[in-house]
Amino acid sequence: MSGFFISFEGGEGSGKSTQSQLLCKAFAAAALPYIATREPGGSPGAERIRQLLVTGDADSWDADTETLLFYAARLDHMNRLVRPALEQGKHVIFDRFADSTRVYQGVGKGISPNYIEMLHHLTLGNCMPQLTLLFDIDPSEGLARAASRRGDETRFESMDLDFHHRIRAGFLSIAKNEPGRCVVMNAVQDKIALHKQVVDGVNKRLGLSLVPQDH
Ligand code: TMP
Repeated sequence: MSGFFISFEGGEGSGKSTQSQLLCKAFAAAALPYIATREPGGSPGAERIRQLLVTGDADSWDADTETLLFYAARLDHMNRLVRPALEQGKHVIFDRFADSTRVYQGVGKGISPNYIEMLHHLTLGNCMPQLTLLFDIDPSEGLARAASRRGDETRFESMDLDFHHRIRAGFLSIAKNEPGRCVVMNAVQDKIALHKQVVDGVNKRLGLSLVPQDH
């Protein structure tokens, strides 16, 4: 049996990485096999591409090339790490996946949605998560949170506030159009209260019986 494919999505500073780590603890506590990974990155080659994408000046790539680089990283990640894990029955928890390309490169940078969908089908066929948890936060608040902890991975954060408002709207639009796959979470609340909602959403959508963790 193939494992479940779950993605965490959201704007800068939405707390999705903290929440994905807490969900991993709940999988571990239930003795379910899983791996946690991230995009861009997750395999050695994709981590090298990540460095090219998330550091440096905002305009260091043109948007078309940037989109291809995200898909190059994604293809390596899927082929080397994710597909083998899913085939072994492991659940895979992603910190970002294809919705980020649809939103950051599509809505944010004006790359055509059809082009992104074609690229997706060309590289990954119809592979999409069974469940996507979207962490929604006002961009001003998210950027302030992100600024307090990010090292040199500031290439997208350094885009203007209008860009980040469009990112937020783009994610919410995907969630509205694909309610069977996406659950929107209000990211501005206590960490453990939010984790309980995440576990509840995962249990309901995927038919699991995970127990929320308290730290
Ligand atoms: P992170 O904030 O989750 O570490 O992600 C790194 C940055 O990469 C973040 O600013 C969003 C951006 N990104 C895209 O622009 N397109 C993509 O497809 C992905 C996966 C991330």
